[in-house]
Amino acid sequence: MQQAFRASILHCLADPGPHASEAAVEYFQDGILLIEDGAVAQLGAADELLPALPENTAVEDLTGKLIVPGFVDCHVHYSQLDIIASYGEQLLDWLNRYAYPAEAQFSDAQHARSVADVFLDELLRNGTTTAMVFATVFPQSVDAIFAAAEERGMRLIAGKVLMDRLCPDELSDSAETGYADSKTLIERWHGKDRLGYAITPRFALTSTDEQLEAAGRLASEYPDTWVHTHLAENQEEVDQIAAQFPWSRSYLDVYDHFSLLRERSVFAHCLHLDAADRALMADKGGAGAFCPTSNLFLGSGLFDLQSMSDAGVKVGLATDVGGGTSISMLRTMSEAYKVLHLQGQSLPASRALYLATLGAASALCLDDAIGNFEPGKEADFVVLDPDGSTMTARRAQSAASIEELMFALIFLGDDRNVAATYIQGQLSPATAQADR
Ligand code: GUN
Ligand code: ZN
Repeated sequence: MQQAFRASILHCLADPGPHASEAAVEYFQDGILLIEDGAVAQLGAADELLPALPENTAVEDLTGKLIVPGFVDCHVHYSQLDIIASYGEQLLDWLNRYAYPAEAQFSDAQHARSVADVFLDELLRNGTTTAMVFATVFPQSVDAIFAAAEERGMRLIAGKVLMDRLCPDELSDSAETGYADSKTLIERWHGKDRLGYAITPRFALTSTDEQLEAAGRLASEYPDTWVHTHLAENQEEVDQIAAQFPWSRSYLDVYDHFSLLRERSVFAHCLHLDAADRALMADKGGAGAFCPTSNLFLGSGLFDLQSMSDAGVKVGLATDVGGGTSISMLRTMSEAYKVLHLQGQSLPASRALYLATLGAASALCLDDAIGNFEPGKEADFVVLDPDGSTMTARRAQSAASIEELMFALIFLGDDRNVAATYIQGQLSPATAQADR
């Protein structure tokens, strides 16, 4: 079945870089996105494509709105949805005071499923169609998020948290149970529909050597699963890592030592790295998740995109809710701009969009399936409405270019500007719901 959508359409073909290369983006002021069986069939100018469409093709007229690829959130904790905006601590105290007590509730499968439903609907309402998600230590919390994603047809990566030291007893697994439970979950979910499994050691601080070794074994036994963890977020954390692993050259070296640095390894934060770390990460094909709202909120530091890019490390944007303060990738893009601006680095709108779409897909090794509108890719997209709020409507009127309009939407936009989200060409019911 063919469906055509008529609107302004913007997507990235490559990384525009800090100076906004025009060749890296494609824009149709009056465009047609043609979809067949949930995949992109064609993209082009309306005056060229419309006359060639088969007569019975339904054309959804979204003139005045802007279609972009669905946003990809490279790192987020669904179990922390309800402790977002919790006051006053840096990472290690924040985990103890807020995150761990919230995660303990996910031993209850019903609680997990009800939060998973709200979480995914919030993602969709905000235009996020794919995410890489931390569940909790409880296998039932992984079942809950995968089942909820499957019901919505979403492409989603998730995994069971592994932690067997320096954490509350009720949240502790062991090297053996963590390995066995992860294996069961991989067999149950990995590659089912659009779902993928991530082996998820929380961070090296909360795993024994035995557990890290078991996680590395799993990563070798299942090479097409992902590895998802935290890296070098907070200085106190980095200092404790150095004490726990005195033989290591660096924090990243610990993961590398336990065979956890490879293609499809995604490391949240990457704030306190050196040049050797970045070179190693690029060489092994790992990727960094840039979490600006979280890094500012927890006072962790400033992500150095320039150095990561120069070293050839893949980077995707991420909310890191609940350390992050917004589930919206528009809000996250605007905070990324500020984090980089503080360091004398620039982030044009086209590159911010890249980091939230094709760049994020590439960081997750999913750029063959999602991230832009190349023919054959899965048709996950967002319809942005510049008239969604008074401020964006006013600002849009004086925007002289698509770069300027997108920049204004990034800074002033939110869920009010997400008119609709489509998953494989189907309107997501969540986006029809008004927020309360
Ligand atoms: N490092 C280890 N666990 C966490 C977590 O839940 N959130 C953040 N931001 N960092 C972490
Ligand atoms: Zn995190």
